[in-house]
Amino acid sequence: MSPHTTPDNEFTLIAHRGFSSDAPENTYDAFDLAIEHGFNNIETDVQLTADGVPVLIHDDALDRTTSGKGPVAAASIAYVKSLDAGVWFEAPADGVGRHGPASYGDSFVPTLEEFLDRYRGRVNLHLELKSREQELSAKVAKLVDEHGWHKPDSPAGPGVSISSFDASQLWRSKNTMPHLDHGFLLRRITALDCELAISIGCSGIYPNAADVTLEDVQVAKLNRLLVRTWGVRGEADLRRAKSSGAAGTTVDWPLRARKLLAG
Ligand code: G3P
Ligand code: CA
Repeated sequence: MSPHTTPDNEFTLIAHRGFSSDAPENTYDAFDLAIEHGFNNIETDVQLTADGVPVLIHDDALDRTTSGKGPVAAASIAYVKSLDAGVWFEAPADGVGRHGPASYGDSFVPTLEEFLDRYRGRVNLHLELKSREQELSAKVAKLVDEHGWHKPDSPAGPGVSISSFDASQLWRSKNTMPHLDHGFLLRRITALDCELAISIGCSGIYPNAADVTLEDVQVAKLNRLLVRTWGVRGEADLRRAKSSGAAGTTVDWPLRARKLLAG
C-alpha cells in the first residue's frame, strides 16, 4: 500500500496525537506507530514555549505527559527538550507498540520544526493550534513555509491543514495562511457556528463524535463545510460519527477503529 493511501477512503481515520492508545501521545513513537500501520493522517497539538518555540504537546501544563512541571508557556525550549515524554505512559498489554516497564523511556517533546522536517512528504498533518498566543499562527506559518508543506493535493495528502477551538486564533491563522484549509473545532454544529466558520474562511467544521447528528452534518454540508469529528471514546461514538455522514474522525486507536468499521 502506498504510504499516502488510507484503506478508509470514505471515512478517514486520523491518528489522534499519533497512535496514542499504544505509544506516548504527540511523540515520534506515536507518529511512527501510526505510519507503520498505514495511517498517514496524523493529528497533533501545537503551542509556544516561553521563548516562543512551537512545540507539540496537548496540555497547557507539562505535568501529565512529561517529567517536567508547570505551564508550557512558562517553560524554556531548553527545559522542555530536557524532559522525558514517555515514562508516564503505560502500554496496553494487547497493544501493537512496545511493552514492558519504561518501554518508552527515550521519548521527548518534538518541536513543530522537527516534525515538519522528519515527516515532510510522508503524512497528512492535521495541526491543532492549541494555545491562544497572538504570535502562534505567524510562527507556524513561517515553519510550514520554510519546510515546504502545503495543502494536500488529494484527501490522503501529504500536506497540512489547521484547526482550533479558538475562533480568534483561527481567524489570525487563516489570514496568515490563506492557502491552507482550516477547520473550526466545537462541541456541536449550529447554524450560527457554520456562519462563523464561513466568515473566518474555514472549509471545515469539527464537532464532537458523541453529539454529532445526521441533521447537523446536513446543515454543515448545505454550508459547504467538511465535517470530521473528534472525541471518540468507544465503538458507539465511532459508529455514530461514521453514520452521521462525517468525512472522518480523529481516534486514539486507529487500528481497532479500522477493524471495527471493516467488520
Ligand atoms: O481532533 C481534535 C481533538 O484533538 C480536539 O481535542 O483535546 O484532544 O485536542 P483535544
Ligand atoms: Ca488536538
